[in-house]
Amino acid sequence: MTHAERVAALEVVASEVRACTRCRLHETRTLAVPGEGSPDTEVVFVGEGPGFNEDRQGRPFVGRAGDLLTKFLATLRWKRDEVFITNIVKCRPPDNRDPEADEIAACAPYLKRQLEILDPALIVTLGRHSLGRFMPGERISQAHGTIRPVDPESGATSAMAFALYHPAAALRTPDIERTSYADVARIPAALLESRARREPAEAVPVPVPVPATPVSAAITSSAAVAVAAPPETIPDTPPDPEPDFTLF
Ligand code: URA
Ligand code: SF4
Repeated sequence: MTHAERVAALEVVASEVRACTRCRLHETRTLAVPGEGSPDTEVVFVGEGPGFNEDRQGRPFVGRAGDLLTKFLATLRWKRDEVFITNIVKCRPPDNRDPEADEIAACAPYLKRQLEILDPALIVTLGRHSLGRFMPGERISQAHGTIRPVDPESGATSAMAFALYHPAAALRTPDIERTSYADVARIPAALLESRARREPAEAVPVPVPVPATPVSAAITSSAAVAVAAPPETIPDTPPDPEPDFTLF
């Protein structure tokens, strides 16, 4: 697909999402939140579902959890509009309750189509629900900071998934926040690993660490990869299970 075709195809999905009534979440939403970002990116972040602010604005990760996600990206010198950010369910669950299995299933075709269009190398899962989709059966306390091939059924035909705690969990628990910064610092290496798996012949070994590089460069050049400053300390295994991300 060309850039223009991806833009158009993503907009078709987004307009269907905005009008969607496939599950009960449409009854209580203000605005559906299709997701946003670069149509040309190699990296897609998948959260759980819109919260209060996202529901008001129709945009993903614009509240406090979003501010932390933006900071995580900044440690890699990545900007929000250089990646794609979306959610497992596109409408806010009332009172930020967990999305239910039938709601997740009803919404899944939208995420699947987004991933088919974007064909990312790396899917960064944010929290338990997104983890459950891309690394079924894994526990967040074990899986965070690790990478796995994703099932092509997800729509991402040759992507790997890299797990993070939900940023809202990091906001609530300093240990999880520290762990998350350490995990985020591993995202560039995860991207390289996934690229190497997709294009074994073209993969170039990369000296690590290198100075932080804008994501546009990091994404288009196998030789330049942003590496975050290492955290002062890497904490012991954080508490299990991850707390609910409900904040508002
Ligand atoms: N939490 C999520 O999982 N997604 C958002 O878009 C905002 C908060
Ligand atoms: Fe449709 Fe997904 Fe919103 Fe449910 S959560 S109404 S399936 S867009």
